[in-house]
Amino acid sequence: MTSHLISIEDLDRAAIERILLRAQSFAEVSGREIKKVPALRGRTVVNLFYEASTRTSSSFELAATRLSADVINIRASGSSIEKGESLRDTVQTLTAYEPAAIVIRSPYAGAAAQVAQWTDAAVVNAGDGKHEHPTQALLDVFALQSRVGRLDGLKIWIVGDVLHSRVARSDISAFQKMGAKVTVAGPPTLLPREIEALGCSASPTLDGLTEADVIYVLRMQHERMQEAFVPSLGEYAARYQINHERLRPGQLVMHPGPVNRGVEISADVIDSEISLIGEQVKAGVAVRMAVLYELLVGTTTLAAVA
Ligand code: NCD
Repeated sequence: MTSHLISIEDLDRAAIERILLRAQSFAEVSGREIKKVPALRGRTVVNLFYEASTRTSSSFELAATRLSADVINIRASGSSIEKGESLRDTVQTLTAYEPAAIVIRSPYAGAAAQVAQWTDAAVVNAGDGKHEHPTQALLDVFALQSRVGRLDGLKIWIVGDVLHSRVARSDISAFQKMGAKVTVAGPPTLLPREIEALGCSASPTLDGLTEADVIYVLRMQHERMQEAFVPSLGEYAARYQINHERLRPGQLVMHPGPVNRGVEISADVIDSEISLIGEQVKAGVAVRMAVLYELLVGTTTLAAVA
């Protein structure tokens, strides 16, 4: 039986806390001059990225390297994936190297769960279409906890293109498991109809934004839009952009990156001290080290796929 991390639903609050505690100790390692521990020496981690990525791919690579694993990075462009090799054949080919873990990002919802059926390696979902991005949610909780302490009772508004966002789906679940109260806000065309079934509130305007302790801004995800969901980016920005005029003192702002400066968030907010964006990126390495460690060495039981 192998453990995987496919969805935040694989984790209860105790499991999240265990991973984040482990991440805390890896954050200390990352503060040392020699940023390496021998935990995964002699084991192989494959990073398989079928979709654009800067932060997630670089931090998984750094995480595996700092755990002393041998790391193979495969991108869709420049690999046999471009020649039409199927996901199943690619995974079977890579299985010949006997990887301990496969980290996969794919434009298709369900891809990571599918890969878990084809390999003995531990599978980590690094984003599957509009479905989930569990390590992003874990690093978001880590970065926020490092700034404010426990999330119990915290009011978090997730603003923007919720419909196309795997980050929103994973974050809603993770924030709520940690005791926060979540509201999603954005144009009605970008709020999925079933969203309240996830336990959060939904608002088509930013009228109540002052109640939020934390505002989590989402990127307008043009690449997932097959039709026009908003009249124009200018009009979107006029009604929903997070900028200093809309914020009150004491509020914090997060964003998973990459940002569209001046669209969903203003440049001055990105660069101000109320923004956690840099801390989120930094948290990515320690949290992904913790996830790989827990799956391959530690004791956390994640989703068990027989
Ligand atoms: C997100 C993603 O790719 O899902 N980015 C990330 O991993 N940091 C969000 C996005 O692309 O908007």
